[in-house]
Amino acid sequence: MSPPFAATVLTLYPEMFPGPLGLSLAGDALARGLWTLKTKDIRDHGIGRHRAVDDTPAGGGPGMVLRCDVLAAALDAAVAGDDPRPKLLMSPRGKSLTQARVRELAAGPGAVIVCGRFEGVDERLIAGRGLEEVSIGDYVLSGGEIAAMVLLDSCVRLLPGVMGKDASGAEESFEAGLLEYPHYTRPRDWEGRAIPEVLLGGDHAAVARWRQAEAKRITAARRPDLLKDRGGDIKEPR
Ligand code: ADE
Repeated sequence: MSPPFAATVLTLYPEMFPGPLGLSLAGDALARGLWTLKTKDIRDHGIGRHRAVDDTPAGGGPGMVLRCDVLAAALDAAVAGDDPRPKLLMSPRGKSLTQARVRELAAGPGAVIVCGRFEGVDERLIAGRGLEEVSIGDYVLSGGEIAAMVLLDSCVRLLPGVMGKDASGAEESFEAGLLEYPHYTRPRDWEGRAIPEVLLGGDHAAVARWRQAEAKRITAARRPDLLKDRGGDIKEPR
């Protein structure tokens, strides 16, 4: 068996981990050794009696900036020079995380994740250690920790043995570029709302056509950008 997906997280708040990653699907997988999680406290490499990790921005302005020397020392202590894992920096300035990137990461050896805080990270660290900046969306969190958990959760659920075979097709449909069709279960009638008739008739081809049409309708209404990205190539249901 290949070694488990190995996550190392550099943070000022190691006590935030595993947090939600210790429960449910990711937590079970962690307990089963399907992935590993190490945290590294950036403050262990802070400067002086107060273990300072940040300083005022060069050129002035509000907030504080994480020091490149402190972060580099933390990274170099946590990661060997020949470590094959991608080094990521969670940041709202990064490229948006996609299911395609999640699949790539999940297929690899793991990830080293730096969680930013304060106003930002000294740019020289990003260049000097070859960090890939990753955003989880166009909004600003108070730090990268929750973003790192989002990234890890999305990777871990794809690791072999974590999910049942049945469930693993769901994000393929996302990768095919459509949002998911609506789901229903019992009761058949609820508060005057019935399950669509086609889903109760047992005609599997009709169900597949209805789901495809609903997926297209919902995607067009909510995420027309996804339809454009597909170049109008509407794939048939599997
Ligand atoms: N840190 C703060 N905001 C973030 C975001 N949107 N994505 C990733 N890391 C962040």
